[in-house]
Amino acid sequence: MKRVKVNFTVNGEKVSVEVKQYETLLETLRERLCLTGVKESCSIGSCGACTVILDGIPVRSCLVLSPEVEGKSITTVEGLEKNGILHPLQQAFMEKGAVQCGFCTSGMILTAKSLLDRQSKPSKDQIIRTISSNICRCTGYKKIIEAVMSAAEKMVAT
Ligand code: FES
Ligand code: FES
Repeated sequence: MKRVKVNFTVNGEKVSVEVKQYETLLETLRERLCLTGVKESCSIGSCGACTVILDGIPVRSCLVLSPEVEGKSITTVEGLEKNGILHPLQQAFMEKGAVQCGFCTSGMILTAKSLLDRQSKPSKDQIIRTISSNICRCTGYKKIIEAVMSAAEKMVAT
């Protein structure tokens, strides 16, 4: 199969990777760049486990072909911690017990981050609508919503 070279930025670092023509961003991130915080579940765009932020927009990396990200900037959950300090969303998910098996967690956090980046004080309804695109089979969502609300409050206060 034809291979192409793709250059993009991931978590602030420029990378240049040779990929298969129809390789998904999910495969490239996990298998070539070892960013295994990006999870694969349904592989058809339904669950949100593979969510990453692409030029500020949350996308399902199982639906993006790697050659399409030439010149773009990607954030995965690995890019949220800064100098050993967790992002307020990561901290809040732990403190509020919003993580059980953890399979949905990175996608949830990145989806929530993209909301908080646009809207510093989202309403509970906005949070519910936003994360409803991501499936969690464990938590019942209540603690996830509480975690996002808590992180939003802390981020506004700092
Ligand atoms: S693995 Fe991509 S949306 Fe489910
Ligand atoms: S914590 Fe298990 S799927 Fe969400």
